[in-house]
Amino acid sequence: MPSDTLQPIPLFTLSRQSAQLTAAIKEAVNRVLEHQEFILGKETAAFEKKIETACLGGAAHAIGMSSGTDALMALFMAKNIGPGDAVITTPYTFFATAGCIHRVGAEIVFCDIEPLTYMMDPEKLRELLVSFQRDASGSLITLSGNRVRIIMPIHLFGTCCDMDAIMRLAKEYNLMVIEDAAQAIGADYPSAQGPQKAGTIAEMSYFSFYPSKNLGAAGDAGMAVCRDEKLAEELRSIRNHGMKERYYHNIVGGNFRLDALQAAILRAKLPFLEQWSAQRRANAAIYRSAFEAASLLDRVSLPYEYFVASGLNNHHIYHQYVIRILGSAQSGLRERVIAHLTKKNIGYAIYYPVPLHLQKCFAYLNHVQGAYPQAERAAKETLALPIFPELREEEIRAVVGAIAEAVI
Ligand SMILES: Cc1ncc(COP(=O)(O)O)c(C=O)c1O
Repeated sequence: MPSDTLQPIPLFTLSRQSAQLTAAIKEAVNRVLEHQEFILGKETAAFEKKIETACLGGAAHAIGMSSGTDALMALFMAKNIGPGDAVITTPYTFFATAGCIHRVGAEIVFCDIEPLTYMMDPEKLRELLVSFQRDASGSLITLSGNRVRIIMPIHLFGTCCDMDAIMRLAKEYNLMVIEDAAQAIGADYPSAQGPQKAGTIAEMSYFSFYPSKNLGAAGDAGMAVCRDEKLAEELRSIRNHGMKERYYHNIVGGNFRLDALQAAILRAKLPFLEQWSAQRRANAAIYRSAFEAASLLDRVSLPYEYFVASGLNNHHIYHQYVIRILGSAQSGLRERVIAHLTKKNIGYAIYYPVPLHLQKCFAYLNHVQGAYPQAERAAKETLALPIFPELREEEIRAVVGAIAEAVI
């Protein structure tokens, strides 16, 4: 394959988005500059309503926040998560989840991932829950003596976790669930009760609108999501220093407000989300056929389409296209692939190179190498390839061609 004849192929770019979108964004920005309602107000409220109908199927409330991370902080604050509590999550993900657990003073409890999907392994979760003692009131207590309150599965790379199994365990052990849906806006989950939207399966969740997300702002933005109306009210107050009435503070909150400019830009982009996710899925299908045609499936494992048989369009929204270079934890093959991609000017990323239990800032948790073997293996073997909607077929074939040159 003549992969050296091509221009650089970026991992991600917004520069190929249509002129039509640029016009809509400019109009949105001008509108805000004219009405000058910069904080919350009608732009944020209108965007929240749109998300509730377009991405949550009317099944939950959407509360605009300054980032995904801030949305999670607000959820923890609303649920009074703090010292003496423990939250279960996975070590193979972006830092925000564990970071927020630490910041509210709760204990981070890790549960290893399932190797095909890279997401929380319900079997491992069960083993973990079974290993805990109960106190006199029946609460689940970790080895450090903290009360387990929340399970936080992460819908990584654009498809959902095995939520039916996780929700069953949460019910059995009387625990709350927060879905980390930062990467999964608009994804469909085929639950046993019927299709559900990512973010509406558990009682609480959140999205990130970081610029490279499927729906990205022109800066930081996020959204808390919850089913309960009273909790939604509380989150609206928490994002605004705990106020309901101006300058009367019944609770302590923070400044987690979604910027009106970002809300207006996101509103302009939202009508394209469905189409962009479909284009990402089409790109994934081209990758699959190119990897198959190059006979690479004994060297590389492709993203697992957990729910493809459900017939739901958005069973995967391909926020990232992450492959595994098989055996590279031992062989170092991934590093050779990376060197070759770099030589060919092809963008890539490693999501995520250091599992969270081995991050320096969490050394106090005393986890050793080998504690979460699947997360550690994924960190050494995975590689994210370009998947953005406007990626061209010949570029996808060139990426696969370059990988073939490196691994054969
Ligand atoms: C899985 C996951 N969780 C949380 C976050 C945090 O979101 P934000 O960057 O909007 O704070 C991100 C975003 O990058 C993410 O990918």
